[in-house]
Amino acid sequence: MSETIRTECFDETPTRVVSGEGALESSRACLAGMGIEKALIVCGENVSKLPEVQQFALSCSGCVGVEVFCGAAPDPTDANVIEGARVGREFGAEMVMAIGGGSSMDCAKAIAAEIGKPGWIASQDRPGQPTSIEHQVPPIVCVPTTAGTGSEVNPFSVITFTQTQRKLVLNHEKLFPRCAVLDPRMLRSAPKEVRVAAGLDALTHAVESYVSLRATPETRVRAAEAIRGVAKYLARVADDAEDMQAQAGLQRAAMIASLSFAKTRLGIVHAMALPLSALFGVPHGVANAMLLPHGMRFNVEADLQGFADIAAYLGAPIEEGKVPEAAMAAPEAVTALAAEVGAPARMSEVGVEADAIERMADDAMQSAHVQVNPRGVTREDVAAIYRAAM
Ligand SMILES: [Fe+2]
Repeated sequence: MSETIRTECFDETPTRVVSGEGALESSRACLAGMGIEKALIVCGENVSKLPEVQQFALSCSGCVGVEVFCGAAPDPTDANVIEGARVGREFGAEMVMAIGGGSSMDCAKAIAAEIGKPGWIASQDRPGQPTSIEHQVPPIVCVPTTAGTGSEVNPFSVITFTQTQRKLVLNHEKLFPRCAVLDPRMLRSAPKEVRVAAGLDALTHAVESYVSLRATPETRVRAAEAIRGVAKYLARVADDAEDMQAQAGLQRAAMIASLSFAKTRLGIVHAMALPLSALFGVPHGVANAMLLPHGMRFNVEADLQGFADIAAYLGAPIEEGKVPEAAMAAPEAVTALAAEVGAPARMSEVGVEADAIERMADDAMQSAHVQVNPRGVTREDVAAIYRAAM
């Protein structure tokens, strides 16, 4: 077991990444070093009860005052943001620390911005327009408890606006975390389904980013590293949450995938996954896992070499020089990995109704991810992919 904590910086993000077993405890020094006296911890109900979190909050007292806001719901809403910011302001928080999965991290980013200017979140419910933040935002620190979203190193925050029922992606450089604390010990509490869904979300980020129309040689290097990492560690993480080496490897893969997709955006799989979550409450990672092989099969012809590379990174048995065959092996390798880790394969298994396909196809086509998909896609294509995944 390695106790080494390392600190890294990456060209793609201003976020400093501190990683290793015990990184959370060591981040106390980092908080003290920021010169702040009061921090708001943002998390969900379950995470707030973890002994690691309670111990951390206790151990901070003396150097940094801590208040815990445990109202970060899955798919956080503007109401959660306003409430968290109210708690933070009353406490006098000068920094916001998220401990949790993507929802908690996204919620914490928006809470930080709302602390800086009460009423800000209400002004951001405007689809299609860029997020605007003209005020100062207190520093954000993210401690992920799942290896999936990569929110800890990107400037995105997905918030649901309750009145309009809109789920929007806020995106602003002031939402970049100052620091990401990747402590694999914090990943142990997530149940198997959550570990699997998160890992397959990270894989989807990496695959879609690798073949995105906006991909560059630099983003492809990152996406390739992430795909290899998921292929190497996901099954181990699914089997054994205590396998710290695998947890750390998968966590790193998820973070690296985020560095890539923050530049490239994603593709039809993410566009099509959103309505599954919105209409049927299918967890984001599960929706991606079911749709990914089908989306890849649709896209293969647009980038044979790209998909052949992906097959190789996934460890599929391929023959040199046979690019089309290798490309076709990529979706099969994803299907095999998803089956190995026990992810649901069909939308009907998780309660999605075929009647909704037309509506879901309309919704999916609204997503900006469609524009960077390697193959041009119509509403009818999307409906056909949904049908294939039923
Ligand atoms: Fe995702």
